[in-house]
Amino acid sequence: MIDREAVSAAADAAWRGGPVAGPQLASARDRAALLSMHAALHCLAPTQRFDAASLARKGGVAARHAPIVDRWLEELAAHDIVRRHEQQWEWNAEPPARQAVDAAWQTARELAPRRGEGRALTDFFARCAEHWRELLTDTIGAQTLLFEDEAITTEIYQTNAASRYTNAAAAEALAQCLEQHHGPTAPSALEIGGGMGGTTDVVLDRIRHLAADYHFTDVSRWFLERGRDRWAGRCGLTTGFFDINDPAAWESPPRRFDVVLAANVFHNAHDPAMLSRRLRSVANDSGHLVMIETHIEHLPLLMSMRFLMSPPTAKVPFTDERANNGRIFLPMSQWRQHLQDNGWTVLDLVPTDPAETESDQLAHPVARFGQHVLIAAAAKE
Ligand SMILES: C[S@@+](CC[C@H](N)C(=O)[O-])C[C@H]1O[C@@H](n2cnc3c(N)ncnc32)[C@H](O)[C@@H]1O
Repeated sequence: MIDREAVSAAADAAWRGGPVAGPQLASARDRAALLSMHAALHCLAPTQRFDAASLARKGGVAARHAPIVDRWLEELAAHDIVRRHEQQWEWNAEPPARQAVDAAWQTARELAPRRGEGRALTDFFARCAEHWRELLTDTIGAQTLLFEDEAITTEIYQTNAASRYTNAAAAEALAQCLEQHHGPTAPSALEIGGGMGGTTDVVLDRIRHLAADYHFTDVSRWFLERGRDRWAGRCGLTTGFFDINDPAAWESPPRRFDVVLAANVFHNAHDPAMLSRRLRSVANDSGHLVMIETHIEHLPLLMSMRFLMSPPTAKVPFTDERANNGRIFLPMSQWRQHLQDNGWTVLDLVPTDPAETESDQLAHPVARFGQHVLIAAAAKE
């Protein structure tokens, strides 16, 4: 049994325990990103009517990033800046002047004056927007801009209000799963896609009183090395290379775990249904899955982090609707359905999905960031 009240209380305490940027900052970043997208695409397609394929060709857009251009056009259309005419697009608004774009980013920066409280992230979004051409043409990678300053990843995965909330909820749920373990062996946890460890840090702090085995994995050896240095000696921590999309990685059944943590990594699964089944196969019969996932593709994200998620080649690897719509995130109801259909019983979702509440008034303030924690129990095999 997961104590939902305790999960929500831990999440609320973490969220209230730090700075919460007002909705003005999110709106200012959205506005700046929209202006940047408009200016960028107008630069590549200055004629009144154009088609996306020739815009991408003329602009030298890397084939693997072509779905990003489609998503930008979709967002511009949603704001009535372009209109679709069958295979063509038509501008419906004058392009913004360079000064207007710069001023919009400056406004966003002024709303986030301090690093650790939104400034590093705002600067990162602005840098990506400034380098839109190099990003689209693959002349620079978003990694270069992301990892030029560790303060950026700390803000993205740890110190912003939504991450504080989801990390604390995930840590509390995971700790409860381990605390309920009975038996001769130590309780065990597997983390997939652990990365910079934004969630791991919080989890390891929460379970420091337990003699547990914690297996931290990722597809990047750099993250594994960093993890070994950072958490040496903590909670029986071991690390391992693990590619969730590699069938061979699942062939020799790894040991089974009491809880699996998947923080912001499920969206990297080519086939989320398959990943759900595979995760079930490495969970004990009384095991749990704690998952943090996102369902909203915010405008600044589409100009920045979205580039990290393009596959290495133009071949879109997804087996679901994302193969055709250029999206990375599924609606929360679909993340949930994948789990339900593939060996898991979803116990809880925090904060509640606004789509499931009758009125926005009932939604938790953090829900607007579109990040949620799903807690699931292994269904009987
Ligand atoms: C968005 S980051 C999340 C990092 C961390 N879990 C957090 O929330 O702070 C996604 C992580 O998934 C990892 N990843 C991407 N593709 C993967 C794959 N196929 N198998 C395992 N991990 C993967 C990346 O290396 C990265 O560390």
